[in-house]
Amino acid sequence: MKGRFHLAGTAALIAAAMMPTTQAGAAGKLTLYCSPQIEWCQLVIEEFQKATGIEVAMTRKSSGETFAQVKAEKDNPKGDVWWGGTGDPHLQAAEEGLTLEYKSPMLEKLHPWARQQAEQAKYRTVGVYMGALGFGYDPAFLAKKKLSEPKCWADLTKPEYKGEVQIANPHSSGTSYTTLATLVQIWGEAKAFDYLKALHKNINQYTKSGSAPIKAAAHGETAIGITFLHDVVTQAVEGFPVKAVAPCEGTGFEIGSMSIIKGARNLESAKKFYDWALGPESQKLMTKAKAYQVPSNASVTPPPQAPKMEQIKLINYDFAKYGSSEERKRLLAKWDAEVKDLPR
Ligand code: G6P
Repeated sequence: MKGRFHLAGTAALIAAAMMPTTQAGAAGKLTLYCSPQIEWCQLVIEEFQKATGIEVAMTRKSSGETFAQVKAEKDNPKGDVWWGGTGDPHLQAAEEGLTLEYKSPMLEKLHPWARQQAEQAKYRTVGVYMGALGFGYDPAFLAKKKLSEPKCWADLTKPEYKGEVQIANPHSSGTSYTTLATLVQIWGEAKAFDYLKALHKNINQYTKSGSAPIKAAAHGETAIGITFLHDVVTQAVEGFPVKAVAPCEGTGFEIGSMSIIKGARNLESAKKFYDWALGPESQKLMTKAKAYQVPSNASVTPPPQAPKMEQIKLINYDFAKYGSSEERKRLLAKWDAEVKDLPR
């Protein structure tokens, strides 16, 4: 009797070991560094886990912060994929050899601007979405404070907006670095820095994350938030009466990007995520996450609420230059030296 039980127990153990299991983690693991809005990050990992069984550990940090983390972890990488966030720091990471070359079979399904981002980085990054920069405000809130409605970048330095404008810090935030690089491209460096110094007088707070200023404007904590236009749309869809403005001088844009971190411990899972994130199933999730960027997969139509790129005066943003390590470091150091600590 004893022997029979023993044998039966052993057989059960072997069977259990051979059985495909649906337990989380059995299909693999993935550590994801996520830079877009947290709600979208969460939905993406939930759906990826459902689709593949791969267990994902995710942290959301802004684009510049994630770049700094990937760089700091260079000799002992902890993350596998860096998904989303503005393209410039992804390009810088590619140039500095922090990310891995990968040619996804999904590349041919993408818009040319997303493929171009990959080609430019020797396939060490790729475009996931695109979005234009601007600002937003609640017209009723401005009216109550007897403030006029700004239409242009230049308007934001008017003395009437003293303490009324919010933008993120360009070190931590890709949104804010895109603004800095955009202004330099519109006006040239000297005029752009004069503008940033004047704007500084009106800034009530440099936030960590790029979308925080428009959330603050939606909640009546600031009059104007400088941010991506699609982040204004998200607040409007949430029910806040905010209006998005594409500045009259023209504006810059981001190619939100994705990179596999060099030394990724879960390389197979990383590649699975990468291919999945460029596919239609994942990019269609944007609407559900109230994310209104332009998806890079050409078969996915942006939702009707998304800002219409063809109606916005976009500059010819020089990603090669402003995503280069030298230029990004130089501009940020200049902002620190000439703007950040000025009295307000
Ligand atoms: C928001 C936008 C994204 C952008 C990201 C950058 O989430 O919706 O399109 O890529 O900001 O974040 P950051 O905090 O780095 O400015």
